[in-house]
Amino acid sequence: MNVLLLGGTGRTGGRVLQQLLGRGVRVRAVVRSAERLPAGVVDDPQLTVVVADLVSLSDEQVREQVDGCDGVISCLGHAVSVQGVFGPPRDLVTRSVERVYRATREVRPAQPVKLILMSSVSVNRPGGLDTRRGRFERAVVWTLRGLVPPARDNQRAADFLHDVIEAADPYAQWVAVRPDTLKEGDVTEYALHEGLVDSLFRPGETNMANVAHFMCELATDPEVWAAWRGRLPVIVNASPA
Ligand SMILES: NC(=O)c1ccc[n+]([C@@H]2O[C@H](COP(=O)([O-])OP(=O)(O)OC[C@H]3O[C@@H](n4cnc5c(N)ncnc54)[C@H](OP(=O)(O)O)[C@@H]3O)[C@@H](O)[C@H]2O)c1
Repeated sequence: MNVLLLGGTGRTGGRVLQQLLGRGVRVRAVVRSAERLPAGVVDDPQLTVVVADLVSLSDEQVREQVDGCDGVISCLGHAVSVQGVFGPPRDLVTRSVERVYRATREVRPAQPVKLILMSSVSVNRPGGLDTRRGRFERAVVWTLRGLVPPARDNQRAADFLHDVIEAADPYAQWVAVRPDTLKEGDVTEYALHEGLVDSLFRPGETNMANVAHFMCELATDPEVWAAWRGRLPVIVNASPA
């Protein structure tokens, strides 16, 4: 299978890239800077590196990247710096997801492309389905979205997937993966939940390697995909026994 990877130079995206290649998946990675890819992957014959900024490509160029892909994984995120958080593009994640989705409609693949978005537990399930948050916590999250563009961007990207891509869409299906606080470490046991399990004030932990593992499972295992498509699973490390 072929996967288009966005954000492959990031902390989680790099792990996704290594794990996809380890599974024998062909990967096309669109990156701004190939030097930032994880060590040892660039010579892998299964990897094609496209040095480009997806948000700056023409529609035709985005189509070329999406064409032939069975899945698209986005691990894009805003850099943790004043420029990264408050500078353009403030809608990096949303715009990328929208562009990729629109490209799938033009490519008209025979099977729906799997769109897999790295999201966050700060993102609410649309329709008020995350009932776990109390009133005060909801107010904090709402304020964060008003003040911090990346928080707003992540919510909008998930809303776009939920609101625009219908279950019967012939060209694309989606899953938005919601990790809690990201941690280093290897793949361990992890748990998947339909809704939130921890609070903003007592956050859970999620190894980036576990996020990568779940995203690879979604891309490669039809049963895992069928279980989660059209949903926003929360992923957290399993509690030690
Ligand atoms: N931090 C947490 O605890 C946490 C928890 C849950 C979810 N999340 C979410 O998870 C996602 C990924 O997190 P991460 O820490 O793995 O990300 P990261 O290490 O910061 O990587 C971000 C990726 O996005 C790319 N990128 C950033 N700005 C870009 C731009 N303007 N144009 C094109 N590419 C750009 C980076 O490319 P370059 O290498 O070229 O900069 C990099 O590949 C984010 O959306 C974040 O909000 C984070």
